[in-house]
Amino acid sequence: MAVQTVIVLAAGEGKRMKSVTPKVLHSVAGRSLLGHVLHAVKQLQSTEVRIVVGSGRALVEAHIAEIAPNATVVFQEHRGGTGHAAQLALAGNSPKGTVLILAGDTPMLTGDSLAQFVTSHEAGEFAASVLTAEHPDPTGYGRIIRDENGELLRIVEEKDANEDEKFIFEINSGVYAFEGEKLVAAIAKLTNANAQGELYLTDVIGILKNTGESIAAIMIDDFTETLGVNDRVQLAESAALLRDRINDQWMRAGVTISDPTTTWIDATVELTNDVTLHPGSAIFGNTKVAAGAVIGPRTTLTDCDIKAGAQVLESIAVLSVIGEGAKVGPFTYLRQGTVLGDASKAGAFVEMKNTSLGSGSKVPHLSYVGDATIGEGSNIGAATIFVNYDGVKKHHTTVGDQVRIGSDTILVAPVSIGDGAYTAAGSVITEDVPAGAIGVGRARQRNVIGWVMRKRSGTPAARAAQATEASTDKNEQ
Ligand code: UD1
Ligand code: CA
Repeated sequence: MAVQTVIVLAAGEGKRMKSVTPKVLHSVAGRSLLGHVLHAVKQLQSTEVRIVVGSGRALVEAHIAEIAPNATVVFQEHRGGTGHAAQLALAGNSPKGTVLILAGDTPMLTGDSLAQFVTSHEAGEFAASVLTAEHPDPTGYGRIIRDENGELLRIVEEKDANEDEKFIFEINSGVYAFEGEKLVAAIAKLTNANAQGELYLTDVIGILKNTGESIAAIMIDDFTETLGVNDRVQLAESAALLRDRINDQWMRAGVTISDPTTTWIDATVELTNDVTLHPGSAIFGNTKVAAGAVIGPRTTLTDCDIKAGAQVLESIAVLSVIGEGAKVGPFTYLRQGTVLGDASKAGAFVEMKNTSLGSGSKVPHLSYVGDATIGEGSNIGAATIFVNYDGVKKHHTTVGDQVRIGSDTILVAPVSIGDGAYTAAGSVITEDVPAGAIGVGRARQRNVIGWVMRKRSGTPAARAAQATEASTDKNEQ
């Protein structure tokens, strides 16, 4: 297999998407539609990739620069059809070997299927091959017209098809392989004498056939791979199919997914065997999850690194590291730059950001921890707030090893708590607490005796207090 040039057609507006975002930039399973196609194409190791862009050019080009910086971008100013787009991509080029052309809106195609298709095309020494599929609902696709011997004759578009042709279930996937020189000669002959007044790339097949070249229709086993995304319904269909494909692959690799229909894993995620995913969980981006970790239910992880045996329950984490055997949740929000050490804990209603929590340390309940470094074996009491923002700048808080921060402590950054130190519950800590000290930063309590009887007489509180007083007096007599 030696693919010379791959041409990806991605200039279309995607009118049916009704979106300000160019169609090929819509994403499913963590990649843009175009990103999925380019990922599959990568497997072919072609000499060059040319991508035709048009609608939303600046956005599409910026995306390509990010995900496929080596590709050549070709600009199609006016949408003259798929044939016109391919002509532009070939202009000034005379590829000698195999040219593969496909659309940027078919995210389900796999590299394996493309490679198999190219291998068949090259083995048959065809001038052109088209990848086809038996589709249960062929509406909207080009149909494959074969003669009585089953030989490919041409492709007819839905809009140009007669009633009999519309009953054909074999569709054009929009993936073609050509012998380069023959493609260049035939594509010059396209005309726009059709229902849409466009140059159809599909007509190259009929042109080559009429000049006596051998052409082939190669059918794919799984028609879902050829699904094109033209509207949001098809976008959701392909998302669901990709979800199932990805989940199946991980389950076969040893991941337990207790409810695959509600578990969404991006194509870019890396899991390990013996990971368990519970219902309603979504694992996005470049997240990695190590063996024995238990995620969910209802947990969303984006670009996180989850170490072996960690547990994350009903929580959201972004750009965070969760250490070996650490426990997170329920209802915990870990934001960018959170690093939880081994066997540490971030419990219920805790929000953390840009913080490293040492191994064995715990933030069990109702706290905000931002811009902090916390040592090992420390405990942050319930309802502690790390006050990191003075209204203008963010400041850092340092907490040492084996520290006990009392419940409801306010740590006003920048501040530092030494190893083994304590803070008294309810303290507002504005000055450093040295190692081994207790920081007490709160008003001394004072009891005003008899206040309720004087100021709230006749209320249930006053009556309850009086009854207690009476019985105390009696007991004291
Ligand atoms: C096309 C095929 C159809 C096939 C289907 C498979 C033609 C004429 N028809 O139809 O036989 O069954 O794909 O999904 O080729 N594009 C450009 N420039 C243009 C027009 C289109 O770059 O001027 C790009 C689009 O961005 C898209 C691809 O070509 O990625 C296909 O165009 P689209 O309009 O989606 O064609 P379909 O109607 O789906
Ligand atoms: Ca399409």
